[in-house]
Amino acid sequence: MTIQANKPYSAPRPVEYAPIPDPIFRKSWFGDENLPGPNPILSDFITATFMVNTPKFLLKMQRRYGDHCSFFLSRRLFIGLFSPIGVHEVTVAQQHNFVKGVGFARMRKVLGEGLLTNEEPIHLAHRRMMQPPFHHGNLDSYVAIMHNLINEHTNNWRSKSSIDLAPEMMALTLEIVSRCLFGLDSHQYTDAIAESMEVAIDRIERTMLPGLERFDKSAIKYFKEFEIASDRLVDIAEAIINKRLESKDNTDDDLLGILLQMRDQISVDHIRDEVLTLILSGHETTANVMSWAFSYLSKNPKIRKDLEDEADRADWIKENRTPTYQELEQSSPIASAVLQETMRLAPPVWVAPRIAVLQETMRLAPPVWVAPRIATVDCVIDGVKIPKGAHVLLSQYVTHRNPRYFPNPEEWKPERWHNLEFEKSLPRGAYFPFGGGSRKCLGEYFALAEARLILLMVAKNFKLDGSFPKAQPRATYRPKGTVKNKVTTR
Ligand code: HEM
Repeated sequence: MTIQANKPYSAPRPVEYAPIPDPIFRKSWFGDENLPGPNPILSDFITATFMVNTPKFLLKMQRRYGDHCSFFLSRRLFIGLFSPIGVHEVTVAQQHNFVKGVGFARMRKVLGEGLLTNEEPIHLAHRRMMQPPFHHGNLDSYVAIMHNLINEHTNNWRSKSSIDLAPEMMALTLEIVSRCLFGLDSHQYTDAIAESMEVAIDRIERTMLPGLERFDKSAIKYFKEFEIASDRLVDIAEAIINKRLESKDNTDDDLLGILLQMRDQISVDHIRDEVLTLILSGHETTANVMSWAFSYLSKNPKIRKDLEDEADRADWIKENRTPTYQELEQSSPIASAVLQETMRLAPPVWVAPRIAVLQETMRLAPPVWVAPRIATVDCVIDGVKIPKGAHVLLSQYVTHRNPRYFPNPEEWKPERWHNLEFEKSLPRGAYFPFGGGSRKCLGEYFALAEARLILLMVAKNFKLDGSFPKAQPRATYRPKGTVKNKVTTR
C-alpha cells in the first residue's frame, strides 16, 4: 500500500481545522496597563534578542515586567503568561479559546497531522484511538521490554572507559519507543534518525517566527536542509509501516498494529504521521531529561549516593527481575543519611530519590520549555485581556523558576520534592513539564517509567562523571554537544 498524501513539508493546512485569526500588528495595538513590556518600536531589536536564547529572553521578561507581559516579535503582538493561574487557564480551563501557536506550524512540516501538531476535529479522534496503550494499567508489558533493552544497551558500557552521554541516551530511548510501540528493532534507523532530527529540531525552532515560512521553498541551503531532513524522517516512518504491511502480520497488539486495524477510522497517511510523531516525541524528550539528570548527579555526589542506595535496596534489582510499573511509581521510605534530617522534620510520606531527581531535573531543564498558543477569541486570562489573534507564550522554563514556589530557583535540589506535601502544596499550573488539558503529554507515564528505570539501573551498575554541559535550547531543551562522561563500573 502506498501513502497518498503530500509529504508534511509541502502539505497544506487541513481544511477541517478552524481558520487562524489574523495576528495583531503594532499599529492596531493600543497597549494595556496590565501588560507591561518593552516599547513596540524596539520590535526588531527584541526579535533579535529573542532568537539568541529564547528561554533566557522569556525569563528576563518575567523578571523585568512580571508574570504578564507583552512584546512584539516580527512586529506581531506576543503575550507572555507566566503565572500558574495563567498556565492553568490556557492549558485547561480555557483551552478551547486557543490553538497551538508559533513553532507548531514549523513542527507540522515534519510531523504532519500527528497528535503533537494536529488540531480539532482530527486531534480528539486520533487521541481516542491512541490513548488505551498508554493507560497506567497497560504499562507492565512496556516496562519488561524497557528493562531488557536497558540491560542490553548499558552492558556495552562495561568494556568502555567513557561514553558520549547524549547520543547514548538518544539511541537507548529510540530503541525503547520503537520496540514498545512498533515492535521494531531501531538499530538500522538510529543514525539516519539522529542526523535528520538534529537538523529538524534546530530548524523548527530557529525558523519559528512568523514570516520566515516564505523561504521554505527557496534555494537557501538552511531551508533546503530542513526539507531534506523532514522528507527523510517521513521515508523512515513509511518504511516502518510498509514493512509491517508486507509481513501480513497486522494482528499485533502494539500501537502500530492497533492503528493499522483501525484503517476504517484513520487513513494510512495519518498513521504515518502518528508513527513519526511517536518516534520523535517519544525519544528526544526523555533522552534529554536523562542527559541532564546524569549531568546533575555527576555534580552532586551526595544525591547520587542516595540514588545508589535506593537501587541497592530495590527488591526487583536484588531479585534480578523486571519491576512492575507500580514498583517504579510508588513513593517509598527513605533512610539514607543525607535525608535523615529532613525526615526528622517532615511528615511521613516520602518521595523516593528516583522520583525527586527527575522532578527536579524537569523543573530546571524541562525538555518542552515553551507552550506557544494563539488566542482564537477575545478572552480574559488571570485578569488580563487577551485579544483574538494574539500569540501567547507559556513557558515551563520560566514558571518553574518562580521563587515564590521554588525557593532558590536556580539550585538543583531534588530534596525539595522529598516530602510529598510539597508537590501537593503547589498551585495548579506552577509545575507542568507534561503540559495540561486535552493536549497533555500522551506518553507521560511511559516516559516516567522509562526514566526511573534507566536512572536506577544505571545507578546500580555505574558511576558516570562528566563536566556539566551548556544548554542548547531548540525545539527541545537539549544539552550542547555529546556530553562526554567517564564510566566506572560499581
Ligand atoms: C520526559 C519526557 C516527556 C516530556 C517532558 C513531554 C512533554 C510533553 C508536553 C509538554 C506536551 C504538550 C505540548 C503542548 O501542549 O504544547 C507533550 C505532548 C505530547 N507528548 Fe510528550 N513528553 C515526554 C515524553 C513523551 C513520550 C515518551 C511520548 C510517547 C511515547 C510522548 C508523546 C506525546 C504526544 C503524542 C503529545 C501530544 C499529545 C496531544 O496533544 O494530544 N511524550 N509532551
